[in-house]
Amino acid sequence: MLARNLIDLNQLSLEELDDITDMACRISRHPSHYSSACRDKLMATLFYEPSTRTQMSFQSAMLRLGGKIIGFDNPGATSVAKGESLKDTVIVLSGYTDILTIRHPVEGAAMAASLYSGVPVINAGDGGHLHPTQTLTDVVTLRNVAGRTDRLVIGMCGDLANGRTVHSLCKCMARYGGNSFVFISSETLAMPAYIKEYLTGCGCQYSEVRTIEEAMPYLDVLYMTRIQRERFTDPDEYEAQKGVYVLDSKKMRLGKPDLCVLHPLPRVDEIAYEVDDDPRAYYFRQTLYGMYGRMALIIRLTSEHGHCVPEKPAADPDFICANPKCITKVEPYLPRLSLETPKGKVCAYCEHHS
Ligand code: CP
Repeated sequence: MLARNLIDLNQLSLEELDDITDMACRISRHPSHYSSACRDKLMATLFYEPSTRTQMSFQSAMLRLGGKIIGFDNPGATSVAKGESLKDTVIVLSGYTDILTIRHPVEGAAMAASLYSGVPVINAGDGGHLHPTQTLTDVVTLRNVAGRTDRLVIGMCGDLANGRTVHSLCKCMARYGGNSFVFISSETLAMPAYIKEYLTGCGCQYSEVRTIEEAMPYLDVLYMTRIQRERFTDPDEYEAQKGVYVLDSKKMRLGKPDLCVLHPLPRVDEIAYEVDDDPRAYYFRQTLYGMYGRMALIIRLTSEHGHCVPEKPAADPDFICANPKCITKVEPYLPRLSLETPKGKVCAYCEHHS
């Protein structure tokens, strides 16, 4: 049974994920067959943080399914500006609609929203934590362009510390057999320890290098990411990190003939425009697969048969999350909730330790 919310893609079994990606592939071939799949449904898009692809692809997806949309992408023009809490906004909007999509700058916000929503909640990105529908996009893309989701050597380059897309993608691809990772970053922007521990726990191999050139010949997939200026508290630190990794035609010559270059976009300067014409550059096609993946997800979550009551973590009044970027720090009424993991207790909202 599919979980009622989609906060983390790992809530889905591989079978459920494959069902959704199968459906996305069918929709991409015959979109008109699905043009009334959500005819009487209304979706709210709550975007507390800027977005082009995620917001517009969700909206396009719902409209192409025959549904309707409401929402905001400027919380300053809503009662959030008067101090309305996430809880109150979610209760109200979930009363109006059939499904909520939320992007928020604070880690764990989507999970917090799901506690108060009467309708399914989709995490459209929560701070530097997770971005499950980008990962769905990536999986649908890999199935179509690489022809498989297993036995891949996946390079990830750029801001691996703050990049929620790479965190979600690692956790997902570790579930398919034979995948391994090469992390290409500066020491400052290295993959967080909790993701590396997760991979080790799955028996998944990874290595860390400092240059694109040394990884390139071995990669089946190169996943480029932007240095995320908005996640830096120190502007000088951002200045020191920006522009370090740039994929250009010279570096592409070191890659395999069937390499897939992906990027969640937006790009700043990490992929030179000359690479766009290389047949191995799939990042614009990736955005289209994202819309089909979201269409499939909306159909599943709004269908009666897809519903089930989500398991809520047990209350843990003594647990205090140590992550200063956790939603519990800005929405103080939230109950303290923890999850037991092989590495001990973690925050149920943002997955950090106490
Ligand atoms: N990939 C992605 O999340 O893009 P947006 O920030 O434009 O939605």
